Amino acid sequence: MKKRVLTTRENLPGHGLDRLSEAADVVAWSAAAKPGPADLAALAPGVSAVLALGNDPVDAALMDAAGPSLRVIALASMGYDNVDRTAAAERGVVVTHTPGVLAETTADLTFALILAARRRLGAATESLAAGSWDVFRMHDYLGLDVHGATLGLIGYGQIGRAVARRGQGFGMRVLHYDPYADVTSDDGLSTPASLTTLLAESDVVSLHVPLTAETRHLIAARELAAMKPTATLVSTSRGGVVDEAALLDAVRSRRLHSAGLDVYEREPMGRELSPLVAEEHVVTLPHIGSATEPTRAAMVDLAVDNILDVLDGRPARTPLPGTAARAGVAA
Ligand code: DGY
Repeated sequence: MKKRVLTTRENLPGHGLDRLSEAADVVAWSAAAKPGPADLAALAPGVSAVLALGNDPVDAALMDAAGPSLRVIALASMGYDNVDRTAAAERGVVVTHTPGVLAETTADLTFALILAARRRLGAATESLAAGSWDVFRMHDYLGLDVHGATLGLIGYGQIGRAVARRGQGFGMRVLHYDPYADVTSDDGLSTPASLTTLLAESDVVSLHVPLTAETRHLIAARELAAMKPTATLVSTSRGGVVDEAALLDAVRSRRLHSAGLDVYEREPMGRELSPLVAEEHVVTLPHIGSATEPTRAAMVDLAVDNILDVLDGRPARTPLPGTAARAGVAA
């Protein structure tokens, strides 16, 4: 008999869901709206696996609704702060995510934000569209250079390193702060630095850490005050890493040049926009770091591979550390 698998969306990029449907009975959240915890719990009884996105709530109630058949929660995302990992570990459920397949794509978008925020592309585009480009003035649309600037990476995993490589191409001096990185000396791309040095010396500070209890509001009023007034803060990691009220205050009072954001404390926003969206010196995107067709398809494929491996009794390919309690146990 085929196992049951819950997916939190009916349609996903690529052909991963077709492969999953051949191997399992797929039950999917099919409404257009984002599913809430109760919606997913109602679909969960008897499932052996859950395929979820990085923003979907995966809590203990969902795991309990699934019951003892649940073996694996496979995220089609790198971030995993939406999963109650303690509850998963207590129930022997392996949680997987998608490292490796999205680093270059997310690094591309990070650089797009760096360029857009420092060269004020949003304000310039809006001004052109509004018909305000009537005279060529030397002082209009002035931004700050990216080439030759100092790039400070907070978090030096796959995405941070991919951003460092791009920084080298722009002739930037690259620093990184990451207490967990295995790179403790200059690796030819970037030089390790303390957080204090990185904040004080960087023209661009870019965040590449997961959201955890340790990184929540890692960048708050004190850290923003420690940055240069000509600096740009960029985040393609998770919204909660930055204290948005403090960031708004810093850019409004011109204590910080600019920011480029792809992630927010409250996502998605719908029509209740964060005030950061309207700020002239803040470039905002709707969480599209990994949003290219091949990368999103690769993320779904990897999530499906993780599910099929665990359900077939093999170890998951990309488990989160510390959650692989039952990987390899045939269901
Ligand atoms: C990720 O992979 O974490 C992206 O932010 C999408 O959730």
